[in-house]
Amino acid sequence: MALLEIKKAGDPVLKQTCTEVTKITKKIKKLLDDMADTMYASDGVGIAAPQVGETVRAVVVDVDRKSRHDLLNPVIIWREGSATDTEGCLSCPDIYGEVERAEKIRVRYLTRYGKTKEIEAEGLLARCIQHEADHLDGKLFIDIAQNIREEKDKKKRIK
Ligand code: CO
Repeated sequence: MALLEIKKAGDPVLKQTCTEVTKITKKIKKLLDDMADTMYASDGVGIAAPQVGETVRAVVVDVDRKSRHDLLNPVIIWREGSATDTEGCLSCPDIYGEVERAEKIRVRYLTRYGKTKEIEAEGLLARCIQHEADHLDGKLFIDIAQNIREEKDKKKRIK
């Protein structure tokens, strides 16, 4: 288990477009595991590689603490509906705001075992995947959120 330093808004690494994973290596598997450890230790429901300083298209999400998804090169191939809800981000401590996202999505990605897979998601999982996919293109939720505000001691839905 290894905890990684979480990069905060203002760090240029969070503004970069991440590169695709072309080969599953021990290094990428360790990165996913360390990202998961870091996410769980911070009460997060999702984390993207640039948040720990790595500019590769790798994301870990787990919105209910029993279904961890490791997504490499995630691409949202279908979206439906829209929903607005409060978001936060591990890279923006104590900052919250409302973000409009697709309500349902279908995402195609590479698993940590090198297989291409697709899943459909809705609700918080769909929101979280969209938030993390934005990180891979250098976008933060505060770039698109409404009613951005600081709230201390509010532990929920951080990504
Ligand atoms: Co985030």
